[in-house]
Amino acid sequence: MINYTPLLSVSNFKIIIFMPDQLVNKSVNHGFCFNILCVGETGLGKSTLMDTLFNTKFEGEPTQHNQPGVQLKSNTYELQESNVRLKLTVVNTVGFGDQINKEDSYKSIVEFIDTQFEAYLQEELKIKRTLHSYHDTRIHACLYFIAPTGHSLKSLDLVTMKKLDSKVNIIPIIAKSDAISKSELTKFKIKITSELVSNGVQIYQFPTDDETVAEINSTMNGHLPFAVVGSTEEVKIGNKMVKARQYPWGTVQVENENHCDFVKLREMLIRVNMEDLREQTHTRHYELYRRCKLEEMGFKDTDPDCKPFSLQETYEAKRNEFMGDLQKKEEEMRQMFVQRVKEKEAELKEAEKELHEKFDRLKKLHQDEKKKLEDKKKSLDDELNGFKQKKTAAELLQSQAQQAGGSTTLKRDKERKK
Ligand code: GTP
Ligand code: MG
Repeated sequence: MINYTPLLSVSNFKIIIFMPDQLVNKSVNHGFCFNILCVGETGLGKSTLMDTLFNTKFEGEPTQHNQPGVQLKSNTYELQESNVRLKLTVVNTVGFGDQINKEDSYKSIVEFIDTQFEAYLQEELKIKRTLHSYHDTRIHACLYFIAPTGHSLKSLDLVTMKKLDSKVNIIPIIAKSDAISKSELTKFKIKITSELVSNGVQIYQFPTDDETVAEINSTMNGHLPFAVVGSTEEVKIGNKMVKARQYPWGTVQVENENHCDFVKLREMLIRVNMEDLREQTHTRHYELYRRCKLEEMGFKDTDPDCKPFSLQETYEAKRNEFMGDLQKKEEEMRQMFVQRVKEKEAELKEAEKELHEKFDRLKKLHQDEKKKLEDKKKSLDDELNGFKQKKTAAELLQSQAQQAGGSTTLKRDKERKK
């Protein structure tokens, strides 16, 4: 979930931003925006560092850390220094590293960065563009907070940085560096750098092509990752009030370069390289997103023979390709329909044939049965006739016998009377 809080206007804001000269002229009229993404595990001092960097208290309520996934929370503030207006957006990764299964932790960060690129691309593709007044939310710098373990980078850090390095300018920083001794810190920095190199993680390099900043930038590249300490608490040192963290054994001064690299980070991020970070975001990271997105949509600069291909030609080629596909699909569907009809016809014919065969079989069966019955009837009739004849003969015999019997009795009676 992406949470945008309403724009907070800070008018009487006492911010120490040292504007590079070239930026002042360019941005004085319009103002400009700068968007920082803070990635790091819970409680690594992200909010404190932002407050320390911009000399204010940004976040109101503490963030909740019981969500099932990582959420990105974005706050935009309007800052003013002399006559220069800066629209600063700070994006925080809430719940990063809190889950037991950290496999997908980077996904919502990548999604957030892509969403901002997509919004800019959509604005760019509009017929009526208003890019000059468009609130550009693309992330210009990603401060990656590394826990001061003194050991090696966690796999979560390596995976996340690897997934982000082609999308954003990563500036790795060792958070809460007052928790680690000076000698351990030197070794830790070397270890982190070698791990980043061996895993092919591309971190942002301060540019050395502009000779006015080449020297300082190349020196600062050698100090990466910056070991920082954050605090908004002010302590009196000598006759000056300075930001520091007080411990029973001493005081860590945030802006003392012998104590930590906070000043180096502030100088590099805000004073010297803010414009380069914005430029790199546009020319490198956004350009890559835009190219992949347009290629995904089928746009190309050259045809298969490497000849230049205009947008109009691409559109027409794409349209023809689409129409061709449509026709092909239509033909395929027609063929499929004909095939299905043929199949159905064959099925019906087969069923009809089976029915006919069944009918013939039953007819024959019926005829056979009929013939059998007729034969039976005939034999029964013959039998009956035979029986009748026998009966008639028997009756005849019986009557003859009776007649014969009658005359004999008469004869006997006559003889007896005599
Ligand atoms: P979530 O937003 O909750 O993830 O935390 P966070 O990363 O914003 O950390 P936050 O700034 O809230 O600081 C957490 C605790 O660490 C607070 O008690 C800070 O005072 C402390 N803290 C911040 N910066 C430093 C630092 O540089 N060194 C030490 N030792 N403690 C620090
Ligand atoms: Mg915080």
